[in-house]
Amino acid sequence: MSHYAVFGHPVSHSLSPRIHAAFGRQTGIELNYTAVDAAPEAFMQALDAFAAGGGRGANVTLPLKEAAFALCSATSERAQRAGAVNTLTRNDGQWHGDNTDGIGLVRDLTGRLRLDLRGRRALLLGAGGSARGVAPALLDAGVSELIIANRTPERADALADALGEPERAHSRYWEDLVNEGDFALIVNATSASRSGATEFSLPFQLSTPRTLAVDLNYGEAAIAFLAWARTAGCRDMVDGLGMLVEQAAAAFELWHGVRPDTAPVYAALRGKDASLVTAD
Ligand code: ATR
Repeated sequence: MSHYAVFGHPVSHSLSPRIHAAFGRQTGIELNYTAVDAAPEAFMQALDAFAAGGGRGANVTLPLKEAAFALCSATSERAQRAGAVNTLTRNDGQWHGDNTDGIGLVRDLTGRLRLDLRGRRALLLGAGGSARGVAPALLDAGVSELIIANRTPERADALADALGEPERAHSRYWEDLVNEGDFALIVNATSASRSGATEFSLPFQLSTPRTLAVDLNYGEAAIAFLAWARTAGCRDMVDGLGMLVEQAAAAFELWHGVRPDTAPVYAALRGKDASLVTAD
């Protein structure tokens, strides 16, 4: 049986083991997929041990996506544009890095939810590993402009520079957003609410009655931003559960060469048929 894992810190609440187990059952592929908690300073060693034990592929979640990019001997073009890796594949004794976050987000929004991203003026909050993963895909999906704001402004500048599209993608100070007009797409890629923040502080003028608000987090961590979005009058509010399932499907396809059907797994995680994704 082949071994796979998700590395993160913390990682115990990750749904990835359940999602990959469900995909494996659906496609008849036998696999073992576990969650490995690795602090940044212990990540490299944990990954080496995983490879030595037969690890064939790994997902990487916060806060390790940029570190994962740095340790790969080869990376896909989309990982290079992101400067972050969420999917590692063991090839010839080396790690190859890819990033399926962006395609996962866009497939969820445009494929599953039938939302059109083209021409939308977009605001991306955050400039960490998750923001880096989705920013190139948002540009590819045709947003008219991508403004990036981050608590630490230098990271937003670095991401805007790395995207290499100064006409469309630029950074702004968080405090100056109030002067930026409104946005048809607002994406929360910060981890603020995962570290306990219960309120999201953003000017209401950023939204319009047509705005799509997306939180890349799911569950309790998505509550604060989506509550802001509701109060601000956004039309559509989406959490990151669909993106999670879609990025997992893209990783599964990379590793196993088979594209799983995400619909039943997504429905199960939403609680419509919990038997499909019970922990193994
Ligand atoms: P991830 O992989 O989820 O992106 P990360 O790389 O650790 O995790 O990035 C976390 C992001 O959330 C960063 O943009 C971070 O801002 P900083 O670059 O200033 O650290 C942002 N973030 C975390 N806590 C926050 C808070 N309390 N308020 C605003 N932004 C926060």
